[in-house]
Amino acid sequence: MYLVLVMGALVTNTGSATGCGNSWPLCNGQVFPVPNFHTMVEYGHRLVTSVATLLVLWLAIAAWRGGRPRRDRAFAVMAVGFLFLESILGAAAVMWPEPPAVLATHFGVSLLSYSGVLLLAFSMAADPVAAAAVAPASPGERFLARVSWAVLAYTFVLIYSGAYVRHTGSFCAGWPLCAGGLVPPPGSAAFPQFLHRLGAGVLLLLLLYQWRAAARLRSGRPDLAAGAGWALAFGVLQALSGAVVVFSGASALTAMIHAAVIPLLFGAELYVALRSALRYSTSPAGSSRIPTKNGPNSAYSALAGSKRIS
Ligand code: HEM
Repeated sequence: MYLVLVMGALVTNTGSATGCGNSWPLCNGQVFPVPNFHTMVEYGHRLVTSVATLLVLWLAIAAWRGGRPRRDRAFAVMAVGFLFLESILGAAAVMWPEPPAVLATHFGVSLLSYSGVLLLAFSMAADPVAAAAVAPASPGERFLARVSWAVLAYTFVLIYSGAYVRHTGSFCAGWPLCAGGLVPPPGSAAFPQFLHRLGAGVLLLLLLYQWRAAARLRSGRPDLAAGAGWALAFGVLQALSGAVVVFSGASALTAMIHAAVIPLLFGAELYVALRSALRYSTSPAGSSRIPTKNGPNSAYSALAGSKRIS
């Protein structure tokens, strides 16, 4: 799924969206097109997406048939559903021209499918942690859970703004100033880029805040402190790579690096959000002794909270 996102960015940043003409699912009307750079980039993107679709379908069927809890099956549906939605949007973009505001949604839709896969993986890996989580969630943990879901939602909006500036070509030379000034005139071509940078600054503050909240819980929840540390580190890397995009005049390579850090940043944020929410849901009424068919202290009973596990 990471490759799907990076290949999508490669298609955009090398201007290869029409590398297969306007034909789909064939490429330039052929199964094996005559190779040239743009054709191979777009063709490679389609191949990677096809393989990812098969893998995600396989994962979803395994989650369903393996008797995973309802939450995990919902993550699997999320991964499959958004991947199919992205395939339809991608095919539509090839066949009909779309405005930048619509093109900018593609990144977010792919990211939601990627998130489904990652949430499923994190959720499965969290079983033992949840089993050990026999004490009620502390106020600090509950607070962090709320903060981390808010940070995740904010990041999603910021990512849309990045994809929007990418597709509209909104750009201002220099950094931290925007074309030599503090604030470009609203309505100017540089204004969306200015908002994107401003939004990135706010995200860094939010990530710092999240990390401080998680660091206070380090002794009991080192997993949350580590996840929040990684999220902050990737956030800094993301902002620095944004500055490098500006200084390079938006070269394809630097824009690719900027796009390639996003799934890592978002992945670390998903990790903190899910792990803090899992612990949160293990003790909704202040107790984890929940009777289920597996026994009150089994991994699943702790994981499930009061919800049914099949
Ligand atoms: C830290 C949080 C940030 C996030 C989550 C973020 C996200 C994004 C995303 C998703 C894109 C579109 C990528 C693509 O479709 O290939 C983008 C593009 C862009 N971002 Fe950011 N960005 C951040 C920070 C910054 C900063 C601090 C700057 C400038 C100093 C910046 C400058 C740009 C530019 C110039 C583009 C357009 C690149 C192009 O035209 O090829 N970004 N960003």
